[in-house]
Amino acid sequence: MSKILILNGSPRKKGNTFFLIQELSKIIIQNGHDVEILHLNDYDIKPCQGCFWCYKDFPLKCVQNDVMNGLYPSVLDSDVIIFASPIYWFNYSAQLKLFIDRLVALHVKGGHSLNGLKFASIFVYGDTTAQGSGVFTAIESIDHMIRYFLGENLGVVHGTGGDDLTVPDNPKLMNDLKRLAEKILA
Ligand SMILES: Cc1cc2nc3c(=O)[nH]c(=O)nc-3n(C[C@H](O)[C@H](O)[C@H](O)COP(=O)(O)O)c2cc1C
Repeated sequence: MSKILILNGSPRKKGNTFFLIQELSKIIIQNGHDVEILHLNDYDIKPCQGCFWCYKDFPLKCVQNDVMNGLYPSVLDSDVIIFASPIYWFNYSAQLKLFIDRLVALHVKGGHSLNGLKFASIFVYGDTTAQGSGVFTAIESIDHMIRYFLGENLGVVHGTGGDDLTVPDNPKLMNDLKRLAEKILA
């Protein structure tokens, strides 16, 4: 059994990003795997202070004793990490960025604890075109990080959402999500 960690960067629990997260989770759970969803907006995650305290003896925790020290075990325990976020100002949300920055604390001597892991992403935007939305900036940024982790990018699902819940009516997007699920389960 694999453990899939989904990082929800959307504050809207009835929004499009969370709908896609739930649909993906259902498929993964039905196939006997474990899913944990972190609603990043629910946590008071402080910004990384860039002090590199975490590099001294690699304690796998942060000198700022906030909620992140309690979330690191979930990250370290995962086989696949999925980044899910609305596009805010042509990139992924600040909620997700705060969390990702704090992953610096998971460095070990000569590398990073997440090296070799599998990753995937889900992005939703308001624009009618991917090009106009800025999603490619988010995709490039996440892809760069996965390369840094020497990881495997299982894929990206993205499409138009908006203020209303519209993704369920987008057959291509829902089909892309199923294909991503198959890759995660392969
Ligand atoms: C602060 C803010 C910034 C946004 N910036 C963009 C943007 O740059 N490009 C875009 O296409 N949509 C943008 N949107 C629209 C959201 O990406 C869109 O409504 C998305 O569906 C929200 O996801 P959710 O339903 O999971 O909350 C923005 C929305 C907000 C609130």
